[in-house]
Amino acid sequence: MTRDYLKLLPMSARQDVIRQLRADHDTRLRQDKKGFQRFRDPYAAVLTLPQARFIDLAGDTVRIGERHELDDAQYQRLTDAMRAFMPWRKGPFDLFGLHIDAEWRSCRKWNRLLPALPDLRNKIVADIGCNNGYYLFRMAPHAPRCVVGFEPMLQHYYCFKALNHLAGQPQLCIEPFGVEQLIHYPRTFDVIFLMGIIYHRSSPITMLREIREAMQPGGTLIVESQAIPGDEPVALFPAERYAKVPGTYFVPTASCLVNWLTRVGFAGVECFGAHPMSSEEQRKTEWMTFESYSDFIDPADPSRTVEGYPAPLRVFAKARNPG
Ligand SMILES: C[S@@+](CC[C@H](N)C(=O)[O-])C[C@H]1O[C@@H](n2cnc3c(N)ncnc32)[C@H](O)[C@@H]1O
Repeated sequence: MTRDYLKLLPMSARQDVIRQLRADHDTRLRQDKKGFQRFRDPYAAVLTLPQARFIDLAGDTVRIGERHELDDAQYQRLTDAMRAFMPWRKGPFDLFGLHIDAEWRSCRKWNRLLPALPDLRNKIVADIGCNNGYYLFRMAPHAPRCVVGFEPMLQHYYCFKALNHLAGQPQLCIEPFGVEQLIHYPRTFDVIFLMGIIYHRSSPITMLREIREAMQPGGTLIVESQAIPGDEPVALFPAERYAKVPGTYFVPTASCLVNWLTRVGFAGVECFGAHPMSSEEQRKTEWMTFESYSDFIDPADPSRTVEGYPAPLRVFAKARNPG
């Protein structure tokens, strides 16, 4: 259901390199048969289902299809395929009446950033680390020319492809690439979303430089990040894990994040929101049965993680590439 967005990109994007990356990725996948088949199979099962007639991408729940559009056998095939994509981290979704309550109530993040959302109409947009594409679907009613999700994890990559087979939104696309591959898209994107990523990078400044280079002059970057409380421009660097999550490197204060963006050369940097994380927003559900936020926080002192670090806030920042 996805069109090849490459022809919509400016000439600066290295289309031959991107095509080669896709081919290399495909070759690697076919060598890793087990990992590949585990998510490829439910995707293939969804391809046998029809595209939804009813679609509503404007509300908190991404709604694709109504129950009467599928017969019982098709509905069972859908349910089995969606369960194969567990654990669901981002949502909620309603697929032909099948409600998927994901670990994160991602609608809350989206609603917080809506007041600062740049005009997406006819824009070329990237969502870095797009997971199952919840935010891609939420961007669709804002009429972007195309949105490219970058998502290297096969579980999420195939989950989005399955969802978009049902939703039929050709302007929403996904690549199995990480943020590392943005270097092949110089001066390409009008808007980039970088949400829930920066604290997972060992070199946040290098990544922000590469992101700026992938943006059109005048383009807008939206960053959402885990953060620690405080006014000083400092970042916490955990010994091993932060809130039980390995692969967490620098967790900044809001002012530290603003300084990172400013020193990389972004203009008009502004922090437009901050709020504490909560187990209302990130929690165990029927579709994500592992540990969640309440297990990451000291039960005797909710202002601390289980490692004794300050409990996380979430912050939002907006910045412009001056060119
Ligand atoms: C914490 S989640 C954030 C998801 C979503 N952007 C959000 O804000 O809710 C991080 C996402 O980045 C993806 N990811 C992992 N490595 C990545 C990389 N090298 N480049 C881009 N995304 C990556 C993960 O698979 C996951 O979907």
